[in-house]
Amino acid sequence: MKDNLITIDGPAGAGKTTVSRELARRLGYTYVDTGALYRGVAWAVRTAGCAGGDDERIGAVCRSVSMYFTDTPRGLRFFVNGEDVSDAIRTQEITMLASALSARAVVRDALLGVQRRLGAEGNAIFEGRDMGTVVFPEARFKFYLDADPEIRVLRRYKELLEKGEDIRLETVRQNMQKRDQDDSSRALAPLKPAPDAVRIDSTAMSLDQVIVVILEHISKRRK
Ligand code: DC
Repeated sequence: MKDNLITIDGPAGAGKTTVSRELARRLGYTYVDTGALYRGVAWAVRTAGCAGGDDERIGAVCRSVSMYFTDTPRGLRFFVNGEDVSDAIRTQEITMLASALSARAVVRDALLGVQRRLGAEGNAIFEGRDMGTVVFPEARFKFYLDADPEIRVLRRYKELLEKGEDIRLETVRQNMQKRDQDDSSRALAPLKPAPDAVRIDSTAMSLDQVIVVILEHISKRRK
């Protein structure tokens, strides 16, 4: 059992990022957004002009890509091949490409090693889809965060509008439905709760309430 890892899985818009960041801040843990790694690969694949490529081409990009998170005066930023792509990876185009590429073994295999190396570095909170099931099945503290689909759509829509994206609510709804469906039905590491994960429905909960539930569970298990 790995005592130093907290995993938070769940679908898009369930509040994983806000919860994970705040939890990391309170506990003094490193926060790792594994969705950003899939988005980073998607960005690199698109930049290399091989989004429709075969496994060989996609694999070559995965093997050569350099990705890291770094603290800056603007907060935690994410760099791919030396470029700050923190905002560029949040567009709908990259979002959908990341989801499509994440179903491919060549991409998942490449990122598995990256994530496990990060997990060996110390106390960390890993947010994603398969953290508790595949990447860190031995983590001691596992959570699965979910919320009503329409609430998730509205949260994501608001987020995108705040980022200045010109997008319709219906497009966000359709994209999220497709992503939910694809991410949970794929053959490799599909989105699902680990059998030993604590499930939290955040539909009617505030950020603070979710944090309290998680912290209480962790301290109970530690006793
Ligand atoms: O968490 P996110 O929305 O940033 O993730 C983008 C896509 O990456 C998501 O649709 C599926 C994929 N992903 C994954 O397959 N496994 C993870 N651990 C994290 C993300």
